[in-house]
Amino acid sequence: MKLLFLLLAVTLQITPQPREVAVEKGTFRVKGAGVNYVSGLEDRTVKAIAQLADDITKGTGKMSSLAEAAGVSAATPAASLKGFYFILDKTLPAENYNLEICRKGVKVTASDHNGFFYAIQTIRQILPAGNYVGKSGGKWKLPRGRISDGPRFGYRGMHLDACRHFWSVEETKKYIDAMALYKLNRLHWHITEDQGWRLEVKKYPRLTEVGAFRNGTMVGHDFDSNDGIRYGGYYTQEQIRELVAYAWDRGVTIIPEIDLPGHMLGALSAYPELGCTGGPYDVWTIWGVSDDVLCVGKEKTMKFLEDVMDELCELFPSEYIHIGGDECPKTRWEKCPVCQAKANALGLKSDDKGTREQKLQNYVTSRMQDYLAAKGRKIIGWDEILEGELAPGATVMSWRGAKGGIEAAKRGFDVIMTPNSHMYFDYQQADPDSEPLGPGYIRIPLTMEKVYSFDPYDQLDAEAQKHILGVQANLWTEYIATPEHLEYMLLPRMLALAEVQWTPADLRDYARFEAAVRGRQEAVLSELGYSFRPLD
Ligand code: ACM
Ligand code: ZN
Repeated sequence: MKLLFLLLAVTLQITPQPREVAVEKGTFRVKGAGVNYVSGLEDRTVKAIAQLADDITKGTGKMSSLAEAAGVSAATPAASLKGFYFILDKTLPAENYNLEICRKGVKVTASDHNGFFYAIQTIRQILPAGNYVGKSGGKWKLPRGRISDGPRFGYRGMHLDACRHFWSVEETKKYIDAMALYKLNRLHWHITEDQGWRLEVKKYPRLTEVGAFRNGTMVGHDFDSNDGIRYGGYYTQEQIRELVAYAWDRGVTIIPEIDLPGHMLGALSAYPELGCTGGPYDVWTIWGVSDDVLCVGKEKTMKFLEDVMDELCELFPSEYIHIGGDECPKTRWEKCPVCQAKANALGLKSDDKGTREQKLQNYVTSRMQDYLAAKGRKIIGWDEILEGELAPGATVMSWRGAKGGIEAAKRGFDVIMTPNSHMYFDYQQADPDSEPLGPGYIRIPLTMEKVYSFDPYDQLDAEAQKHILGVQANLWTEYIATPEHLEYMLLPRMLALAEVQWTPADLRDYARFEAAVRGRQEAVLSELGYSFRPLD
C-alpha cells in the first residue's frame, strides 16, 4: 500500500515535495467547482483564492463562482463539502496547510496567509501546467487523497543583487513570482553597492542623483576596460512600496540590505565627506572590493546611516534588516586620524579575538544593531561580522562556505546558510566555457545536483541546529546583464534550493526531484515565460 502511494505521489510531481501525500482512487472534477472561503481571512488571502477561481474559470471554460461561506469550520468533514473550501484552522503551525480532496469537495485548512497560499500553489502544481495562465487544455481534475504539508525551515530565502545590474520593477516582480511558486518566503534585496546606490532616500537626494549611475562598465573579465555606456537606475520610494506589497501578497517578505561599512562607493561618490580621505570618489565601473569604505570615526557617518535606516524602516516592515558587513578592507581606517581617534576613545586593542580595526567594525555593527533594535528590528550581517566581538542577537549569514555559520551556531547566534560552495547562483551550471559569462575565478560548475545536496545541519549538534533559521541562495549580478540571463541562472536551481528549504530531510531524493523538474516544472516555467537552463 505504501509503495502504491509513493508511486502515485511521484506522478503528482509537486515541487518542493510535500511532507505527506496520500493518493486514493478517484478524482475531483475542477470544472465548474465553486470556490468558497470563510470570513476572517486576510485580504491578500482572499485575493489569492479569487485568482485561483479566475484561472479555473478561464482554463476550464466554465464559471467557478467565488463566495464567502458560512456554517463550515475546521471540523466540517471534507466528504460533506461541494467545491473548494478554504477554512481557518488556528491549530495548524505557521505556513502549514492540509488538503483533503474528495469526489465532490476539496477542504483546505491553514492558520495563516502563507498556509493558504501554499495550499493553492500545491493545487496548481497538480493541475495542468497551463493553469497558471488560465489556459485551457487537459483534464482539470485532482486525485482524491490528502496532503499534509509545512516547511522544514521558516526562513526560505533568495537574494537578488540589484546593484551590479539593475532590474526593473516588472523584472523584480517576475523574480518574486518564481519564488512564490516554490514556497520561498524571503527576498534578500541587495540595493546599495560600489557600482550603484538603488534606494531613493529623501534626505540625501544625491544618493540617487549621483550614486545611482556609473560611467560605463567593465567588459567581460577585463578590469582595464570600459564599455563607455552610462549605466544605472534606482527605485523610488513609491516603487518600493509597490514591490513590498506585491511580495507580501505572495507570502514573501523583502529584507533590504544596506551594505556597510564597505561596498559604499555609491554613497561616497555622492557624499565624499563620509569617507576617510574625503575623495573624490566615483561610482565604480569594475567589480571587486574597494579600499574606500565609510569613515566610521565620524559621527556624521553614523548620523547618515541612522537617517538612511529611518527611511528604510518606513518602507520595509520586515523584522530583519541586513546591514552587510562583508569585504570591508581596513587600510583606510589604519591611516585615518579620525578613525584612529575613535578607536582610542573606545579603548580598542588588537588581541586574540581580533584586530583593533575589526573591533572598529564591531562598533559600527553594534551601533546599527542598537539603533534598529529601538525600532523593533533585528540585524542580519555577512559572516565577517563574527570577526572580533559580535554582540548577542545578531543573525549571521554564512557565505564563505558553511564554516562561519557552523561557528556562529555553536556560539549561539542564529544563522542563515548561504554558502558559496552550494548557494552562489552567479556561479555557472556546467563547464564555464560552454555557458554564458560568469565569474572567471570559479571553474567548478555549481550544478543543480550540488545545490540539492546541501545539508544545512552538517557538523551541528541538536542544540546548534536550533540556530539554523534557514537557507538562501545568492544571485550576484556582476556578469549578468539581462533578465533572460538572470532567470537562466536562477532556474531551475532555485527548485533544488526550495526542496532543501522545505522538504523533510528524509524525503529528499535527487532522482525523484529531477524527474519532477523534467516531467512537470520545465513545462510550468515555459508556460510562465521564464528562460531557464534546460536539464542536460
Ligand atoms: C559576498 O558574497 N560578498 C557576501
Ligand atoms: Zn576614517
